[in-house]
Amino acid sequence: MKVLMVCLGNICRSPMAEGILRKKSIEKGLSIEVDSCGTASYHVGKAPDQRSIEKSKEYGVDISMLRARQFSYQDFQNFDSILVMDRDNFRDVQNLAKTESEKNKVKLILNVSHETKEKNVPDPYYGGSQGFETVYQLLDKSLDTFIITHFDAK
Ligand code: 4NP
Repeated sequence: MKVLMVCLGNICRSPMAEGILRKKSIEKGLSIEVDSCGTASYHVGKAPDQRSIEKSKEYGVDISMLRARQFSYQDFQNFDSILVMDRDNFRDVQNLAKTESEKNKVKLILNVSHETKEKNVPDPYYGGSQGFETVYQLLDKSLDTFIITHFDAK
């Protein structure tokens, strides 16, 4: 299974989501390929935001080697599931889809978690460090649920 994580800049939220899912997948011996990208091009080629790198490291997830890239239409062919962080990302990616099957691949990541009512992973870029902890916890919980529902593995 191939999963693509999408946010705006591909430096704060989606690289964390990529690192978290990759770590869980390896730990559980699952066959999941993960990548991430942004809808915008501002940060293409850059490493994740230092605050995302530090927060992930706190939980044993190394994302320092990731580099930002922009979403491209080809990603609809290359991935089975496209998990977006917020409603703006959802709209921007769905607008590029040409078929129903492409549209159906796009899901708000927090909709995969049944426990949370929050639908957007809040953009932590302009806020303080607590925002990165909030993002980490939301993603960690959702991705546990994603694994349980797709692989029946705890
Ligand atoms: P991300 O956060 O979408 O989670 O990577 C952002 C990164 C950069 C900007 C906005 C959000 N920016 O405006 O440059």
